[in-house]
Amino acid sequence: MLIFAVERIDYQLKYCIKMVNYKELGLVNTREMFKKAIEGGYAIPAFNFNNMEQLQAIIKASSELKSPVILQVSKGARNYANPTLLRYMAQGAVEYAKELGCAHPEIVLHLDHGDSYELCKNCIDLGFSSVMIDGSSLPYDENVALTRKVVEYAHQYDVTVEGELGVLAGVEDEVQAEESHYTKPEEVIDFTSKTGVDSLAISIGTSHGAYKFKPEQCTRDPKTGKLVPPPLAFDVLDAIMKQLPGFPIVLHGSSSVPQEYVDIINANGGKLPDAVGIPEEQLRLASKSAVCKINIDSDSRLAFTAAVRKVFAEKPGEFDPRKYCGPARDLMEVLYKHKITDVLGSDGKLAQC
Ligand code: G3H
Ligand code: 13P
Ligand code: ZN
Repeated sequence: MLIFAVERIDYQLKYCIKMVNYKELGLVNTREMFKKAIEGGYAIPAFNFNNMEQLQAIIKASSELKSPVILQVSKGARNYANPTLLRYMAQGAVEYAKELGCAHPEIVLHLDHGDSYELCKNCIDLGFSSVMIDGSSLPYDENVALTRKVVEYAHQYDVTVEGELGVLAGVEDEVQAEESHYTKPEEVIDFTSKTGVDSLAISIGTSHGAYKFKPEQCTRDPKTGKLVPPPLAFDVLDAIMKQLPGFPIVLHGSSSVPQEYVDIINANGGKLPDAVGIPEEQLRLASKSAVCKINIDSDSRLAFTAAVRKVFAEKPGEFDPRKYCGPARDLMEVLYKHKITDVLGSDGKLAQC
């Protein structure tokens, strides 16, 4: 027993992950970034990453376009890639941005959909500059208490915190909801003042994944036969902004599910019938309001998969991962640049280049 205990302590000491503040890694929190985005009528892209190719494409796109950027890591990404490795990848991303000519990059390392105090604390200790605590599936008072606890810890290290009110349909990492429940505007003042959160994720009709709406919730374009989704609840957004003037609002589930990627996937052995996302015009409109962070993950997964499937279909003898991950990376870079320039409007918004 004693031997086991000693071995465990040795193991912990040997592999103990050094606590680090994000400032030492060259990262920034979201506070100034959001303030400027609201004043300037644009939104900061929050792109999820799980691997090197996604990170390379995000940094290349944001650096070349001089855009601030949020690198999002979900619990699933941590498990997939290893938390320590992700931290050093983010640190490497700052150096890579400088190498690409951005002397003063503004890069946030953010925990997406944190589901416990312990997970948020661990990320803060590892060097994350921002965390989301997603208590949206809990009863209201429990969401307040959990969010408040995370804020109290995070603010000691000048780490910013995103909370969530309302439930998005689809799969929210560990949080599942059969159908969405819009954020109640009458709750937002109480929630933000009791918790002290720096930003608030809301539910106005977006949802996660590539199937955001059931076909029966949509109409069909008579010319193309493609599904046309229902509009976002801008009236709910307006009511929230009235309650919280100038407060940073976040939209999750904001992929648009580009049909060209879905078509490439389906034409090359894939099967994504009736995949549908949020029209980009609606996101462009939202970006001009207090919505200052827009989360995009699925579109990058679709770009990656489309490029890989195309290479596999056209060159069945190919087995060098660089020959299919390379085109995937290139297509994701095109996607990220399009989002930054044509949807969110964050290009050229770095305080200093
Ligand atoms: O909102 C969820 C994100 O798209 C992350 O998804 O848990 O599969 O990494 P994941
Ligand atoms: P999408 O699935 O629409 O890309 O949403 C991603 C997201 O909200 C990550 O938190
Ligand atoms: Zn999300």
